[in-house]
Amino acid sequence: MKILITGARGLVGRALEEHCSAGGDEVLSYDHQSLDIADARAVHSAIEHERPDAVINCAAWTDVDGCETNAEKARVVNSLGPQNLARASRKAGAVLITISTDYVFDGRKEGFYTQRDQPVPISVYGRYKLEGERRAQEEHARTIVVRTGYIFGPHGRNFLSNVIVRAARGEKLKAIYDYWGTPTYARDLAVRLRELAVLDLPGVYHVVNSGAGATFETFTLEAFRLAGFSRDMLEVVAGDSLGRPAPRPRNSRLRCLLSEAVGLSPLPPWQESLAHFVTRDW
Ligand SMILES: NC(=O)c1ccc[n+]([C@@H]2O[C@H](COP(=O)([O-])OP(=O)(O)OC[C@H]3O[C@@H](n4cnc5c(N)ncnc54)[C@H](OP(=O)(O)O)[C@@H]3O)[C@@H](O)[C@H]2O)c1
Repeated sequence: MKILITGARGLVGRALEEHCSAGGDEVLSYDHQSLDIADARAVHSAIEHERPDAVINCAAWTDVDGCETNAEKARVVNSLGPQNLARASRKAGAVLITISTDYVFDGRKEGFYTQRDQPVPISVYGRYKLEGERRAQEEHARTIVVRTGYIFGPHGRNFLSNVIVRAARGEKLKAIYDYWGTPTYARDLAVRLRELAVLDLPGVYHVVNSGAGATFETFTLEAFRLAGFSRDMLEVVAGDSLGRPAPRPRNSRLRCLLSEAVGLSPLPPWQESLAHFVTRDW
């Protein structure tokens, strides 16, 4: 396939680039510098010029607290960006996959969020990511929205790498015990993104590793166990004690009814993927 990736230097973008290149795809990688998804004209000319089979949007402004205090930037990148990509993909005849977030939900539900649950974002980031989903879907029928969450992996900014680096330096760390999500390994997500591009079946998919989900505490403790760090290095805190500007959903665990219905196999349990990351990938 000929696949155009936006946000190609981010955590997911790099995992996707590596996966598609290794599989023999023609990969057209655009990072923030080479393509600003908020620039409708630049998006149009890049996609028109490249004529890819699929556009996979890994670009976003992912600073959740930053979005809370700069809503206009959040809107332009996370809402208008996917719309720009959808319009250009439609004109070029390409399928579009745009990545969204578990933060479209308010976190009040017990258990797992599925496609039957109404998104009710509680942060500016969540609101504009949801608006981005909808704008893209309205603009282009061949849009696949992939909601995911708690991503970890070898590149880019991510909670787990920071934690391991700081623990290796002997620093004591804080981990939140009262917010739940479904950890997702960037490499497993990359495999599923490509599968979905081939499937070309529009809809909203929830793509996360399987298992019961985790808090940052349980997730970090498992990483510490695998890396051989003492659990005494971890100070357990309540999420609300951190005074972060943006509210987060207390529970944002995801499950995908659509993947199950079309016969896509579940991603590996997060503990298995975490073990791969900590022992071989970090
Ligand atoms: N990480 C998570 O836990 C998580 C959870 C749920 C959903 N997601 C979603 O997953 C997707 C990938 O996120 P990620 O974790 O890979 O984040 P990331 O590492 O922050 O990567 C995002 C990339 O997008 C680029 N970017 C920002 N604004 C842009 C713009 N206007 N035009 C083009 N590129 C731009 C960034 O470049 P600069 O850094 O140079 O600005 C960065 O390289 C996003 O849609 C995100 O909302 C992530």
